[in-house]
Amino acid sequence: MTNKKIDQNNLPKHIAIIMDGNRRWARKNNLPDGKGHEEGSKNLEKIVDYCREIGIKNLTVYALSTENWRKRSAKEVKGIFNLLIKIVRDKAEEYKKSGIKFFVLGNFQAFPFKVKKAIKKIIKMTVVEEKLQFNVALNYGGRDEIVNAIKKIVKENIPVSKINEKLVSDYLYTKNQPDPDLIIRPGGEFRLSNFLLWQMSYAELYFTDILWPDFTPKEMEKVIIWYQERERRMGK
Ligand code: FPP
Repeated sequence: MTNKKIDQNNLPKHIAIIMDGNRRWARKNNLPDGKGHEEGSKNLEKIVDYCREIGIKNLTVYALSTENWRKRSAKEVKGIFNLLIKIVRDKAEEYKKSGIKFFVLGNFQAFPFKVKKAIKKIIKMTVVEEKLQFNVALNYGGRDEIVNAIKKIVKENIPVSKINEKLVSDYLYTKNQPDPDLIIRPGGEFRLSNFLLWQMSYAELYFTDILWPDFTPKEMEKVIIWYQERERRMGK
């Protein structure tokens, strides 16, 4: 156990998390896979509260990749959608009151009507961000995001002389948001799985074997302290 405390003056501005290991958590506990996602969703609520309480400004979580959306069974995807709808039902009002702005990174236009409706509702209800910008990546892929940005830039006939890093950033889902300075992947894999490829240039990367449903706010605190102990040279 560490007795160290978080330095409030050196918080990461933007934390991004790959929520991995839900099904393994369920299997380890002799439960159906869906129960793993359910626990993962409950854990997400705790992590969102924790981030708001300690003053993190931007949180992004990877809930469904373009690959997951295409390749997971219809039953599993439906289960994840139901959890999303539950979050909207249970949390939209609370997010609004506590200054949490909900946003989606990814192409959710392809989702069933009911899911799109829920997403649009919570985005509309929580437009004012006072405390925390909370992004959920759904049907998201980093390469897909960059390809879409290129298509838009070409379509708008932007002259080559105007194309720079700032402009490209402005064509991504994360427009006007700071790049993540800390990316966390629970679940034991050492890869980024097409997550925030453009935005992750200078992020500190943290990997842990802990499965997402067990990745508590206490663990998150330890990771933030780890982050604060690293010297971030940013190419200097
Ligand atoms: C990856 O772990 C996780 C997912 C594909 C789903 C993540 C969803 C949640 C945490 C529920 C919250 C939902 C929303 C929409 C905010 P995995 O289950 O593939 O893990 P495995 O590697 O153990 O199979």
